[in-house]
Amino acid sequence: MTFSADRPTMIEFKDVHKYYGDYHALRGINGTIKAGEFFSLLGPSGCGKTTLLRTIAGFEDISSGVIMIDGKDMANVAANVRPTNMVFQSYAIFPNMSVEENVGFGLRKDPRSKEDKAKAVAEALEMVGLKGFGKRAAHALSGGQRQRVALARALILKPKVLLLDEPLSALDKKMREHMQVELIKLQRQVGITFILVTHDQEEALVMSDRIAVMFEGEIAQLADPETLYRRPNSKKVADFIGTMNFIPAQVLSETGDTLEIDAKGLGRVTIDASMAPPARGESPVVGLRPETLTLLYDGQTATERETEGIIDEVIYFGDMTYYDVYLGGTDVEVRLSMRNVPGRPVLDVGTKVRVAWSPSALVLFR
Ligand SMILES: Nc1ncnc2c1ncn2[C@@H]1O[C@H](COP(=O)(O)OP(=O)(O)O)[C@@H](O)[C@H]1O
Ligand SMILES: [Mg+2]
Repeated sequence: MTFSADRPTMIEFKDVHKYYGDYHALRGINGTIKAGEFFSLLGPSGCGKTTLLRTIAGFEDISSGVIMIDGKDMANVAANVRPTNMVFQSYAIFPNMSVEENVGFGLRKDPRSKEDKAKAVAEALEMVGLKGFGKRAAHALSGGQRQRVALARALILKPKVLLLDEPLSALDKKMREHMQVELIKLQRQVGITFILVTHDQEEALVMSDRIAVMFEGEIAQLADPETLYRRPNSKKVADFIGTMNFIPAQVLSETGDTLEIDAKGLGRVTIDASMAPPARGESPVVGLRPETLTLLYDGQTATERETEGIIDEVIYFGDMTYYDVYLGGTDVEVRLSMRNVPGRPVLDVGTKVRVAWSPSALVLFR
């Protein structure tokens, strides 16, 4: 059982639609987000991620459907009384205030005593690794530290759900990767539901318990990262997440749980029909991830299937080499990735090679 399966539901969407005038921004959103889950909304710019996040927060009304949070229908529940809190794309911290004033800002209407508020601020700062930074001026902080101030300010209100709209997109690559790990740790520590909006598939894979992949106002697939990567339910999802080779194929027969196909360059393959996504009436192609194809070096044999090829392109990445290879004397070219380990030389363009692959790694789209 996966982490998410046995958790109680925190948020439920039932056929949620959102129109901006004539524009249909959310087109029937269904699904659940579990308590304590790190959940991501992933999709290209303009697909409706921010809109969906804002409907959870109550900043945006929905046109029809139901959003339940913690068992309550959110229709007619104002944003400021929902058990949610949002960390914005631009951190929106006040540069002319100190760190502790920024973090305590959310408590300004709270009836607690000054001492209790100061204690809550100190706790929130410690939680995000900014203990002792309270008196600093916010404008003097680095990008990563500002991010943490924004998080502390959201967490101090003890929401059940923290909403994060592309919180890391303004950071450079190194800082972003660092903050990704920090955010995962923070989420585990505080244990509340995090919902992250991102257009970066790698970020979503790294951080999430589960991901909803969105296109054009719809959820195309909602699954854990490994399922999304290994068993995408459509060509579009497969193409959006990581690199996928698509090879034209023909379905020869379908009997019970077995599909007999002919994939160009690979030959006849028998695959498990129950592992194939539902048919959509498209011309069939098979998908194969680069790391599921392996070059065979002298003396090595394939454990399952083997196909000849010719190297057309070599892309060296230090730890990895990517090879574009024509398969089996055809014009079908696939990209495969090999880890560069001792005793495994980088091969040249034009080299004749043998490629090992496994039918169970194939995904059939049709
Ligand atoms: N307030 C608004 N009025 C009209 N159209 C909007 C408004 N907000 C968003 N949209 C449109 O809705 C679509 C989804 O936007 P958004 O949710 O911001 O996408 P994402 O966050 O995935 O990039 C886009 O086409 C956008 O132009
Ligand atoms: Mg957005």
